[in-house]
Amino acid sequence: MKNPFQRGKQNPIRRRAKKCTITSLRLKYPVYYSTLENQKGSHVWMDGREMIMLSSNDYLGLTHHPKVVAAGMQALETWGSSSTGARLANGSRSYHDAFEEKLADFLRVEACHVNTAGYIACMSAICGFAQRGDLVLADKNIHSSLWSGINLSGAKLERFSHNNPADLEDALRHEDTDTAKLLVFEGIYSMEGHICPLPQFLDIAKTHDCFTILDDAHALGVLGKQGRGTASHFGLDERQVDITCGSFSKSLASTGGFIAGDCSLIEYMKSHAKPSIFSAALPPAQVACASAALDILQDEPEHLQRLWDNVETYNSILKDLKLDTWGSETPAIPIVLGSKERAYYFWKALKEKSIFTVISVAPGVPPGKDLIRTAVSALHSNEDFEKIADALQYAVKKAL
Ligand SMILES: Cc1ncc(COP(=O)(O)O)c(C=O)c1O
Repeated sequence: MKNPFQRGKQNPIRRRAKKCTITSLRLKYPVYYSTLENQKGSHVWMDGREMIMLSSNDYLGLTHHPKVVAAGMQALETWGSSSTGARLANGSRSYHDAFEEKLADFLRVEACHVNTAGYIACMSAICGFAQRGDLVLADKNIHSSLWSGINLSGAKLERFSHNNPADLEDALRHEDTDTAKLLVFEGIYSMEGHICPLPQFLDIAKTHDCFTILDDAHALGVLGKQGRGTASHFGLDERQVDITCGSFSKSLASTGGFIAGDCSLIEYMKSHAKPSIFSAALPPAQVACASAALDILQDEPEHLQRLWDNVETYNSILKDLKLDTWGSETPAIPIVLGSKERAYYFWKALKEKSIFTVISVAPGVPPGKDLIRTAVSALHSNEDFEKIADALQYAVKKAL
């Protein structure tokens, strides 16, 4: 690879890029941007070596499902490769409308809007509603897309401790009742694997007249009846949440994202959320793949069942080895190692044993929570788990 820093010209931005320690460290320890050459089921190939993927968000394992692949190919043939414009302008197609209607029915809400990325959808879910003078109350562990939406909105920000209703109440106690307030949190936190205390958050939101925004990116397809998400998991009426947003790049085996809620709110968002208004519409094949995956969620419950069976199997392996999983209750399961060095050597030992995982260290996670992010898929076989158990045992011996 060419050294990206050896170029002739100099200016302040080039100098900043040249001196950046984060980038130098990333290039020295190549733990990110790993290129995979092939993929079959739960196995991937890196540098010619077969590995077990233990860090994917393809929770239900549908990315190679024949119906998903066939739907994508058919859409490409019928509609071509792109919708070639923004929804507001020339990019809206009947396949968008049909999928939005289907997804809204599944989520038990009136309407939804789809975007090219979950990141854009989640960002739009905030900046489509919050504005200067409003107050956003955000769980301090929310995803980067939500922080970007908050920054873009110009609203004031108050963070509360992760998954902590008492701290949220406390933050609200000192607030002026006339200020419009938005409460932002996630259904499943992808690093921690925690589920949010939705019933308590909704009670607090009602008492303090807060507009609620739930990012259900990791809960769609995983929690609740048929994988309908966090509200369904708690037996709540989905319409109690003002806006739900999420992604198609996890259980729905595609890319793109959605914003769902009442018709009037979705129409309002469509005239206020710049990331949605000024970006090209979701391409036909991606809509078709997500739509086929949504059908599979409802027609083939065995994938969800297998996912949760696998979560149980994997957790028992981790428990036997006394590894700290940060109280994860979901298929996203961290192994907390507590320091950058331990996390690095643990990750390296797993790699040696052909297990692909992702390392996450502070400031990406709170100090002292440096971890290996692992995630279970419905695709993992019993044989995979035997190999994973051996590899974890090796990593414990080698790195701890
Ligand atoms: C909680 C959450 N929200 C939003 C996103 C953005 O989704 P996408 O990667 O599909 O753009 C992610 C992606 O990792 C996520 O974890």
